[in-house]
Amino acid sequence: MKFVSLGLLSAATLAGLVFWSSSQAEMTSIPYQDSPSITAGKAVYEAHCAACHGDKLQGQANWQIRSAEGYLPAPPHDETGHTWHHPDQMLFEFTKYGPQKFAGADYRSIMPAYENRLSDTEIWQVLAYIKAQWPESIQTKHTEAFAR
Ligand code: HEC
Repeated sequence: MKFVSLGLLSAATLAGLVFWSSSQAEMTSIPYQDSPSITAGKAVYEAHCAACHGDKLQGQANWQIRSAEGYLPAPPHDETGHTWHHPDQMLFEFTKYGPQKFAGADYRSIMPAYENRLSDTEIWQVLAYIKAQWPESIQTKHTEAFAR
């Protein structure tokens, strides 16, 4: 009896793990049309990103001009910036691993890596919130260029 119930438990646990890992693995594009993801992403954005990227995604003033110390201000994530010129996976990795992943380990930036602060799901959610704010024409351009 004991053996049976343990067997059931581990089968359930295994099923849960398989489900968990496949749902994690499946997320490779920004779920910008999924309202629960957008709502969750808005909260992540306000807590972790708005201080630099702006409460309306407008970025910091003079965002293209590096400071005397060599740091760029935070760019906008709205349609005036270049966020929408990048593929989903790149935006994900940029947020997860920081700019150094693309610009080299020595690159100096104020943008943190979120690897140890946000889950992968939360990163996709915050990107969903960002993409959901773009005008429809920009969303379509982005999707047609990159999403699979
Ligand atoms: C401390 C300020 C700061 C915070 C907080 C911050 N960023 Fe950034 N972010 C930057 C800066 C500065 C850049 C430009 C990178 C550089 O230094 O060259 C950037 C760039 C980016 C880019 C690349 C944008 C593009 O147009 O290519 C993405 C994507 C991004 N940030 C996402 C996020 C997300 C998502 C969050 C919140 C989870 C966040 N950032 C929080 C400062 C910040």
